[in-house]
Amino acid sequence: IQKSFVMMKPDAVQRRLMGKILSRFEDKGLQIVAVKLMQIDEELAKTHYGEHADKPFFPSLVEYITSSPSLAMVIEGEEAITTIRKLVGATNPLEADLGTIRGDFAMDTGRNIIHASDSPASAEREIGLFFNEDEICDYQIVDNNLIYE
Ligand code: GTP
Ligand code: MG
Repeated sequence: IQKSFVMMKPDAVQRRLMGKILSRFEDKGLQIVAVKLMQIDEELAKTHYGEHADKPFFPSLVEYITSSPSLAMVIEGEEAITTIRKLVGATNPLEADLGTIRGDFAMDTGRNIIHASDSPASAEREIGLFFNEDEICDYQIVDNNLIYE
């Protein structure tokens, strides 16, 4: 069982897409173990996206992510990190397959509505940046025997 960090970006919140996007993860059989609506400040945005600090789009990325609240989440399941990246789709929504979240709801790389961890190391780092351990719920979904063999 893996945990991934997922974040609906300010455009998803502003566009009232939170419920629809959350349903994609629940419908797949993944388990939501933490959720927090939060205004991300500049420092946290820069740390979270630190790997892109030298890219030309970095200032606009930080401005976008801090423009309004985001919905930070921890989502759990078998192979959750890869599975969620597949559900999210390619970085550029015009290249993302239809049926993916970005493919269905977005048009522009700079407004691609959602973030998801890309590796176990990033998941661990990002979960630690956004959540305290006591904010992550450890619980059994009662019908998990219908989701997993
Ligand atoms: P995240 O899940 O948000 O990390 O996206 P990703 O892993 O699919 O892409 P990546 O980590 O390479 O880029 C992080 C974010 O920076 C993207 O989701 C975009 O919001 C933004 N970004 C990446 N490349 C570009 C670009 O060429 N132009 C602009 N404007 N934004 C970009
Ligand atoms: Mg990334």
